[in-house]
Amino acid sequence: MAAAEGQWVLMATGRSPTNIAVIKYWGKRDEALILPVNDSISVTLDPDHLSATTTVAVSPSFPSDRMWLNGKEISLSGGRFQSCLREIRKRARDFEDEKKGINIKREDWEKLHVHIASYNNFPTAAGLASSAAGLACFVFTLGKIMNVKEDYGELSSIARQGSGSACRSIYGGFVKWCMGKKDDGSDSIAVQLADETHWNDLVIIIAVVSSKQKETSSTSGMRDSVETSPLLQYRAQTVVPSRVLKMEEAIKNHDFESFAKLTCADSNQFHAVCLDTSPPIFYMNDTSHRYVLAVHWLGILIISLVEKWNHSEGTPQVAYTFDAGPNAVLIAQNRKTAALLLRKLLYYFPPEDKDLSSYLVGDKSILGDAGL
Ligand code: DP6
Repeated sequence: MAAAEGQWVLMATGRSPTNIAVIKYWGKRDEALILPVNDSISVTLDPDHLSATTTVAVSPSFPSDRMWLNGKEISLSGGRFQSCLREIRKRARDFEDEKKGINIKREDWEKLHVHIASYNNFPTAAGLASSAAGLACFVFTLGKIMNVKEDYGELSSIARQGSGSACRSIYGGFVKWCMGKKDDGSDSIAVQLADETHWNDLVIIIAVVSSKQKETSSTSGMRDSVETSPLLQYRAQTVVPSRVLKMEEAIKNHDFESFAKLTCADSNQFHAVCLDTSPPIFYMNDTSHRYVLAVHWLGILIISLVEKWNHSEGTPQVAYTFDAGPNAVLIAQNRKTAALLLRKLLYYFPPEDKDLSSYLVGDKSILGDAGL
């Protein structure tokens, strides 16, 4: 590996958005390969607002693999990044840059170490699928450096081995993670149902209630649910298969009424499975003790606010969904409804600061639409 002995650094930077599941993944049938017990469907968010930016560097002068998350070094011993690294290395190809005198043979990649620096532009581990964005980005960027030519489906199955939900962040728009049937997981991949332009009237508002790290990680929470919740088995085998078909139809036909009903029902059933777990898991108020009551009340209030509003209009205006944390993800049918929703949220949860824009990340022009 003559060239690899020189003093050079190969570097690439990528950005991947996070995704929010509207039909949830909860439970693995194989822990090591991260194979789920049911299909799931998600919407990938706009990368400008909730995404991970990852720079990967490879150099013969690096003595070991190292990673920094939001500027702080973290251990890579947990195995998940290592699984992705191993899978990408297996598929790496020869690389040559004549100008820089770099010539790396397929087998040389095994001997080269990587440095990874990743930043999230949103709270890490607060139920906003930060690992999904981070791992999808890592796999994609590393694949670029190591000259991997595999298609997005294959890349999604590698990202899946880092974190299940990460496989869906490989694509934009609406994405389905097919659970697959094979024991080796080769058919457990994500597919794009519709791209980001397909239903661009939808507006997503995320009410960040807590940016604290969740107390029960998704990984350990779903392990406990698989071991103890009878509702999980019923959900995976009986409820989700038909729900997934209906959700695919709703997305295809821009049918907001079905989309909203299915999204809310699936979020509620996922949290019912968490409650059905022993010991029970309470994600919607998983926050510091001081705020437990307030946050519990807030989660329930957001649900009841949306349910009452939808009921009084006779047809759903907004869908809600909560992942493994207390933050509410609200999906409005269009900008007009999103502006109304924002007004309602600010009425029930008046901010302390007069400068409303300081509370918002993303498209602040929605404040103007809401007359604020
Ligand atoms: C509630 O993908 O974080 O967000 O595969 O163990 O890394 P691991 O779990 P993770 O779980 C996400 C669970 C969820 C639902 C979803 O995104 O589908």
